[in-house]
Amino acid sequence: MTRIRLQPSGIVFQALEKEDLLSAAASAGIRVPAACRNGVCEICEARLNSGQALNTRNQQPIPVGQRLMMCRTLALTDLELEIPAVMASGQYQPRKFQAKVVDVRSISHDVYRVALALPRRRDIAFHAGQYLSVLLPGADPCYFSIASSPAAENIELHIQASPDWVSAQKVIDALTSGQDVTVELPHGKACLSAAPEKSLLLVAAGTGFAQMKSLVEYLKETTFTHTVKLFWGVRKHEDMYLRSLAQQWHEDWDAFTFVPVVGDDEDNDWGGHHDQLVRAVLASGADWRNTEVHASGSPAMVYTLMDALLAEGLPEGAFFSDVLEYAPRA
Ligand code: FES
Repeated sequence: MTRIRLQPSGIVFQALEKEDLLSAAASAGIRVPAACRNGVCEICEARLNSGQALNTRNQQPIPVGQRLMMCRTLALTDLELEIPAVMASGQYQPRKFQAKVVDVRSISHDVYRVALALPRRRDIAFHAGQYLSVLLPGADPCYFSIASSPAAENIELHIQASPDWVSAQKVIDALTSGQDVTVELPHGKACLSAAPEKSLLLVAAGTGFAQMKSLVEYLKETTFTHTVKLFWGVRKHEDMYLRSLAQQWHEDWDAFTFVPVVGDDEDNDWGGHHDQLVRAVLASGADWRNTEVHASGSPAMVYTLMDALLAEGLPEGAFFSDVLEYAPRA
């Protein structure tokens, strides 16, 4: 096993003996632009900064400083490669696109599941856990987590809307009008650009589940070998709009645990008692020093959770949430 470091992103992954670098990167969940996978198109080109590598086309060593095709290269030692096309978390620049609305369906009393098709989808990169904005004429941008994996053909959103929530309802009205909509993506740094080398704890409140769905579906496509535990907190049973999906992951994937936390189970005032979700997480008693946490929900829930986990020994820098970006503490 060798370790491959990509620059300037700093992303690291491991390659098995006799495994080409493109396959090894894909197994680690790293998106390297590629097409032919046979050394011809030169799209997966990188430069060798250090280490010993073998060109599998001609079985010759690759000199340091020379370019190489990742699909036709084996690592003989640990390597450092220069490949600007691979971005670290949050480094993709947001761009605007006209999205075609493929499907909008109501999946609970107040949540819609939306599928959008983007032009030249294969050229549009984002990381699992990022979000987009829907731009309607004359309105402020509305932000929604992307609920699908970066590899999925369509972009999935979960939109909570009701007639008394005017801005979200306007988005649903626009999406059901038959017209294309303008979206901007990707946004957000609380995401995964590679499968982490430690266990993951995912904590979602309400439609924060969308972000966790993207992360889980992404990890299932990689060779991620650590455990994943998902806590999903809602106020009432009927708010857990894709409970069967989370339960399915729990049954199909040995490393995955789903813990539903429903306010109805203990009290009827969950909205004011986000502590219930935090308490459930703390009671799970994980090895916090070797865990990475992703949380999505209200700023109150996220900061309560972060403070509690840091006090339990979670390292600084192992807690990720979009809340830290859009609602920073003073
Ligand atoms: S994918 Fe075409 S050269 Fe590697």
